[in-house]
Amino acid sequence: MSTIVETKDGVMTIRFDRQEKKNAMTAAMYAAAADAVDRAADDEVRALLFLGREDFSAGNDIADFLAAGAMQAAIEDLPVVRFLRRLVACEKPVIAGVNGVAVGIGTTLLLHCDGVVAGASARFALPFVPLGLVPEAGSSMLLPLTIGRNRASWLLLSGERFGADEARAMGLLSEIVPDGELEERARAMAAQLAALPPNAMRATKRLIRGVDAGALAAAMDAEFAAFGEAMRSEEARSAFMRFLSRR
Ligand code: COA
Repeated sequence: MSTIVETKDGVMTIRFDRQEKKNAMTAAMYAAAADAVDRAADDEVRALLFLGREDFSAGNDIADFLAAGAMQAAIEDLPVVRFLRRLVACEKPVIAGVNGVAVGIGTTLLLHCDGVVAGASARFALPFVPLGLVPEAGSSMLLPLTIGRNRASWLLLSGERFGADEARAMGLLSEIVPDGELEERARAMAAQLAALPPNAMRATKRLIRGVDAGALAAAMDAEFAAFGEAMRSEEARSAFMRFLSRR
């Protein structure tokens, strides 16, 4: 399955566990994560925590992109879409602990978190355009809102990599810790929120997210439509093939 879910002391940990592929996300991993976010509605879950292994995630599995494009899969049927829609609707606080690489959705899912801590050597990238794709997860709206339109445009158009210090300075991260302390700090942040009054927590998250919920839903719909088209394009197909045959 490659997504490990465990709930302890009110914190549901969703861990991506496919280190041999740098936690590149498969359909099965998204499906398991989507189911977990659904189950997080239970009262016993007071906070969610996303973790990877040595790497957070190298983004969507590129072989899966190629297969989904070839199958002409309807975008709404893809588990990644179900996962993202569940995450947007999640009423519990969400923390992410990021180390190693966080590429594509490995970075864009952070825009839906309520606290993000990264190891000092974490590195980020949004290589949608270089892959013949377009942004997803509402990042065409949320990234400009979070880090400013100019910087967001550059990162989304160029796909250029950036480090933890830059991500922190731009407001994408809450904090940076030494790599070896990442998991402990991420767990502490999740535990801190899990211990607070759940109704006030839910109401506050609803207020924060409610402000632009309609605009976000519209942005995501537009992105999914454009993404579905791009995924099947010749530009994307040849970029996927280039990656898969690079050795
Ligand atoms: N999809 C499928 N496989 C992936 C992957 C992805 N997104 N990212 C990494 N892998 C695989 C590699 O093919 C390699 O597999 P192999 O050992 O069977 O050849 C393994 O994971 C290790 O990756 P590798 O590229 O050797 O590590 P690296 O440290 O040299 O580079 C990255 C790390 C993340 C920079 C590089 O793997 C990469 O660019 N990945 C693609 C990221 C991407 O474009 N994601 C989609 C975003 S929309």
